[in-house]
Amino acid sequence: MKLITKTLMTAALALSVALPAAAADYTMRLSHGDNENNPTHKGALKFEELVEKYSDGRIDVVIFPSNQLGSEQEVAQALRMGSIESEILYTGNLVPLAPSVGVMMLPYAFTSNEEAHAAMDALKGPLNERLPKEAGVRILGYFEKGFRVLTNGEREVKALDDLQGLKIRVSKNNIAIETFKSWGLDPIPMAWAEVFPALQQGVIDGQENPYTTAISSKFYEVQKYITDVHYLIWSGPIIVSDRFYQGLPEDLQAVLNKAGEEAANYEREVSAEETAAAKVKLAELGMILSGTPVDEEKWQEAAKALWPGFAADIGGEAWVTEATQIMNDAIA
Ligand code: MLT
Repeated sequence: MKLITKTLMTAALALSVALPAAAADYTMRLSHGDNENNPTHKGALKFEELVEKYSDGRIDVVIFPSNQLGSEQEVAQALRMGSIESEILYTGNLVPLAPSVGVMMLPYAFTSNEEAHAAMDALKGPLNERLPKEAGVRILGYFEKGFRVLTNGEREVKALDDLQGLKIRVSKNNIAIETFKSWGLDPIPMAWAEVFPALQQGVIDGQENPYTTAISSKFYEVQKYITDVHYLIWSGPIIVSDRFYQGLPEDLQAVLNKAGEEAANYEREVSAEETAAAKVKLAELGMILSGTPVDEEKWQEAAKALWPGFAADIGGEAWVTEATQIMNDAIA
């Protein structure tokens, strides 16, 4: 009897080794531009875990960090065609393809992370009415990494005058470019993957991204000064190709939305904790943290004056009016 049991167990084990694990019904590649130490990746891992759990393994999420599948803008184009399934990207890198998301980038629109969360969550539905037509994508959840702060290797920037003449890289969109122009600069638009080598080689003096990115991308090796310019929160949607989404049964569409929202809530918490730790660490590593510019009202005044001129870049006047109303109601 014992022998029979043992033989059966051995056969069962051999069978389970020989047979491949049940294949998922769908594979969903998820691209992002940050490395594995960044909160974006941690949020991506949470999304993978939740999608696979809620779909009982019917969707297999495969994450590609560090722009392995292409730049953020290139991958967003591929989502439109349906040749890549999903991506997490900075809103500023999505705007040229999907102008309506640009309302999240109006300079000085938010005074805190919480305000940005409320606005992002309230905008998800209305944006999903527009983005499939604009860019062939939909939003599943919105990541957030705090205010983008200015780093540079040349001098301490405590006031607008200190900024003058610096070569600052911005993401490739009109809002960032015009905002820096309003502060008297001639900014250099550049793809994200090129930023670290450009800082290293002195092609640019500085850049702006969240505190956590200064840690994960090791900017402290090539930058000395940080200024808390509060003009923009790093917001980044998890987007899915609308072609892929429409090809899923309704229950799996619901899985993606649920997992997207929960992963976003998780990432926001991780990001808040890591931002606080990053400030301490960057000071320990020798960076000079100058805080808010002493003349912040001048920066604000110049950048906010641009709002009316941005309407054409971010979905037109009617949408900007509707979206700012939604955002204001959510924040109130
Ligand atoms: C950028 O500056 O292009 C982005 O903030 C990079 C990122 O997605 O983290």
